[in-house]
Amino acid sequence: MRALLVVSVPILFAASLALAAPIPGQPNPLHGKQLALQLCSNCHLVDNQQQQVNADVPSFNEIANEEGQTAGNIMAHVMLPKHPMPTIPLTQSELADLAAYILSMRKSG
Ligand code: HEC
Repeated sequence: MRALLVVSVPILFAASLALAAPIPGQPNPLHGKQLALQLCSNCHLVDNQQQQVNADVPSFNEIANEEGQTAGNIMAHVMLPKHPMPTIPLTQSELADLAAYILSMRKSG
């Protein structure tokens, strides 16, 4: 019984970590949402709860639902923004997380 406990506790612990942690190499939309709230919500409506910020700035919901929208396209817009959007220094993985978050609002494939 005691031996079983010693073996099963680390296994359970590892299993719960695996559930909570993002899959390595995969974009993490929850992290993208945190980044969006910190970095993008001054200008964009970044989720469906936020109230209007700036009428001239497309909401993330609108961006997500543009025809043919892709993660690559969103990442390109953030890396090389059009005026008046500023250049925001982000790593590739942060960009991918943001794109995954934005695309999570897309209504159809
Ligand atoms: C200072 C204000 C500001 C901030 C901060 C900002 N944006 Fe923007 N963003 C804009 C404006 C204005 C536009 C529209 C520019 C244009 O005509 O394409 C835009 C456009 C975009 C587009 C292209 C929209 C389209 O129609 O294809 C994407 C994607 C985007 N922003 C993502 C982001 C992300 C992600 C962040 C946070 C990391 C961010 N923006 C932060 C102002 C901002």
